[in-house]
Amino acid sequence: MPSDPLDSKSSVTPDAASGPGLVTDELIQLEVGPVAHGGHCVARYEGRVVFVRHALPGEVVLARLTESAPDAKFWRADTAEVLEPSPDRVPAPCPVAGICGGCDWQHADLSAQRRMKADVVMEQLRRIARLDEVPTVVVEGPEGDGLGWRTRVRFTVDTEGRPGLRKHRSHDVVAVKECLIASPAASALGITQARWPGALAVEVVEPSTGAPLVVAEAVAGRKGPSLRMPKLGEACVATRDDEGLHQVKGRTWVSEEVTVAGAPRPFRVTGTGFWQVHPAAAQTLLDAVLEAAQAQPGERAVDLYGGVGLFAAGLADQVGVTGSVLLVEGDARASADARRGLHDLGQVRVENGSVPRVLPRLAADGGPLAQGGADVIVLDPPRSGAGKDVMKQVAALAPRVVVYVACDPAALARDLAFASGLGYELDGLRAFDLFPMTHHVECVAVLVPAGERPSPSEVPAAAESSRRPAPNRRRQGGSGFGRSPRR
Ligand SMILES: C[S@@+](CC[C@H](N)C(=O)[O-])C[C@H]1O[C@@H](n2cnc3c(N)ncnc32)[C@H](O)[C@@H]1O
Repeated sequence: MPSDPLDSKSSVTPDAASGPGLVTDELIQLEVGPVAHGGHCVARYEGRVVFVRHALPGEVVLARLTESAPDAKFWRADTAEVLEPSPDRVPAPCPVAGICGGCDWQHADLSAQRRMKADVVMEQLRRIARLDEVPTVVVEGPEGDGLGWRTRVRFTVDTEGRPGLRKHRSHDVVAVKECLIASPAASALGITQARWPGALAVEVVEPSTGAPLVVAEAVAGRKGPSLRMPKLGEACVATRDDEGLHQVKGRTWVSEEVTVAGAPRPFRVTGTGFWQVHPAAAQTLLDAVLEAAQAQPGERAVDLYGGVGLFAAGLADQVGVTGSVLLVEGDARASADARRGLHDLGQVRVENGSVPRVLPRLAADGGPLAQGGADVIVLDPPRSGAGKDVMKQVAALAPRVVVYVACDPAALARDLAFASGLGYELDGLRAFDLFPMTHHVECVAVLVPAGERPSPSEVPAAAESSRRPAPNRRRQGGSGFGRSPRR
């Protein structure tokens, strides 16, 4: 069977494309169903589920099978030709869209991308969190056309020293002249025109203030300082190997700036340490978290997976000098950046260590959480989510509100299901399109103890609040979290 997408439809016959003899690379005709988590849509072929990329709901496409083991529960396919396009289809702006694995939705109008992301979030809440009432989710977007936003770009380097981007579900590297979703510095520095022998990857960091930083990661067994680096204009340059970060030129860290309590506040981020990627993301998420938390003067706040202290800085302002903020972060460099960046906030304490190991220690007798637990817990775990044990530890501290920042709606839904078994329910959720053109979506979910919610006037002052269970409090103020109409 021919595998060229331009081959005529008549080459695809049901007979040739069915049965156990069907092999990867063959073309099948699909009526495309709803969007699914992961950047593809669901279709059915002879009763079997096929996850098809680069299609849109409602389309009829010819798709090439990319994974089609006869005994597999589902197959994967990629659109080769669109026979009946969706009104949401647009020409992909990037010449390697569909080849490079970085973007999933360049062929969809930006507003359609956001509708699909909302559908995915609601589906995860329904199917995995098993919510009785799923809130209507609207994905809020930053301004712009969805291009030129990525302030952190990691180029994979091939064995010839050429940087590129990985194909979808593959280790193959696609050579690119420029990445259209990358912010201007990544293109202007000429990373992709240069050769990087001995490097496994090159990462560009364009901070909100100051010079960009380029970090070349050495292949296994090679020392960072032995890498030959191209000239990169004004950028700071470093290398990384299994011993750590090595300065080549300028600083090995960048300075990010966010408005906290009405004033700009710098955050130090060493090397390629974690910071939100979209230029609008850090401020958007901080504002959403603080609006949800509404921590009060004197309260005890906890910031789990706290990074370099973005949310801790805002929580410190809300709880004031009579309150406390405990930040827990697993990465030693990020913890050191947080200590350095937040040293002027005496109410903040930074604990370096893994959350599931550190929390029980802090909550044990003599620990800072032993007396009275916590009033507010913010958690922003990695893609895998927090998991059952951490959700148990969070619930054991009996916070009046938990603010969960999630970059994976499936992991969020799993943790919401655990939380529900621990007596916490979803009280509001906002979703943000902080990764346009990709399937990724960021959510901020608010959890409160299940049951009746007293009004703010019924909540005793934090200083008086005794050991758990603490009374619950509804959030106040003009809120993007106002309980949404249920579906
Ligand atoms: C999504 S980032 C959030 C960082 C921060 N909240 C922010 O917005 O900048 C997740 C952070 O969790 C940290 N991390 C990952 N696993 C961890 C663990 N088991 N314990 C503590 N921190 C962890 C990572 O180093 C990273 O800084």
